[in-house]
Amino acid sequence: MKDLFEKIQENRGPIGQHAKESHGYFTFPKLEGDIAPRMMFRGKMRLNWSLNNYLGLANHPEVRKADADAGAKYGFAQPMGARMMSGNSDQHEQLERELSAFVSKESTILCNFGYQAMVSAIDCLVDRRDVIVYDAESHACILDGVRLHMGKRYVFKHNDIEDCEKQLQRATKLAKEQNGSILVITEGVFGMSGRQGRLKEIVDLKKKYKFRLFVDDAHGIGTMGATGGGTGQEQGCQDGIDIYFGTFAKSFALIGGFISSEEHIVEYLRYNMRSQIFAKALPLPLVVGALKRIELMRNHPEYKDKLWEITRALQNGLRTAGFEIGKTNSPVTPIFMSGSIPEATNMILDLRENFNIFCSMVVYPVVPKGVIILRIIPTAVHTMEDVNYTIDSFSKIVGKLKSGQYMSEKIAVF
Ligand SMILES: Cc1ncc(COP(=O)(O)O)c(C=O)c1O
Repeated sequence: MKDLFEKIQENRGPIGQHAKESHGYFTFPKLEGDIAPRMMFRGKMRLNWSLNNYLGLANHPEVRKADADAGAKYGFAQPMGARMMSGNSDQHEQLERELSAFVSKESTILCNFGYQAMVSAIDCLVDRRDVIVYDAESHACILDGVRLHMGKRYVFKHNDIEDCEKQLQRATKLAKEQNGSILVITEGVFGMSGRQGRLKEIVDLKKKYKFRLFVDDAHGIGTMGATGGGTGQEQGCQDGIDIYFGTFAKSFALIGGFISSEEHIVEYLRYNMRSQIFAKALPLPLVVGALKRIELMRNHPEYKDKLWEITRALQNGLRTAGFEIGKTNSPVTPIFMSGSIPEATNMILDLRENFNIFCSMVVYPVVPKGVIILRIIPTAVHTMEDVNYTIDSFSKIVGKLKSGQYMSEKIAVF
């Protein structure tokens, strides 16, 4: 028998095993200053493409003022307790009404964290007779919600409608035998590849199969659709999404999340979702701050237009320069490259230290060995100069990668 702490000492986890070499630079980096395209990293200003501040609201003067005023007026303790017991307020209910209108749903429940909301809602909606059908590249919050499910689950190949239908056939057979129901779960925009989930085609499958659709639209809320109402709005199938999830962690530049659906489903969630019943309500400054953000999103469609102008320039420019950016059809912009982890490490060092560009890198074990993804997140507050400088810099670093320079070169010491 092993001591638990000894076991942990020996196995640090897939990313944690590199903590000694990477902490403070590749992992847990400190970006300092106002949230903006230029931020300080290790004492130098860098062009930053790594934050999901899609609409540029994080540092918007009205947002900063609303947050500060609400903090001063209410403090961060109010309201105390869980919503159900003692932590409800007019502002929480007003925000729920405004979010419902924003995503064209009947009713909404506010949640403290997006991740927790998804896990807990999945847990709450299904029982052991029910069957879950979900996309293979789902976010960890979906996978962890599915892990809590006591019944059967079928996974379909990423964004593969034929396979989704095949899994629905298996699920239907089982659900009939068990007198259960089917919940299909996918995402509006997949955060790694930038691909939209094929929501319209999944909704169309409802003509043949009986199921309810739950969509995690963390990256779609505020960025997709004519009024920013999300990926269902973009694809003209918002009505077919039975349960809609959005987070405040991205376009809203805040913390918290929400789930919208028919009133009786939201009421069920209010009274049964363990992460909300057994946890303190969102502090009032966050609720008031979210109200300000939603007002700005409604009244300033130009923020979303600007985000897309920058996105198109960036993605078209990268494609023209010969970069492989996959099938993204959202602002999330992955750049796929081939190389080893040491090469990827050297490349990021070069990019940060010599070109002053800060972006996220994804390598094995998140993606297969030999694949390097640089993940670029454009925002409404980036400029065309930022785009052009970045494409130019990337052309230089990819030239070095292809010629093998990052295999031998020691770029910088940190
Ligand atoms: C697709 C997706 N779902 C859920 C979440 C979790 O949201 P939150 O950060 O609000 O916990 C994220 C990341 O933020 C995400 O990218």
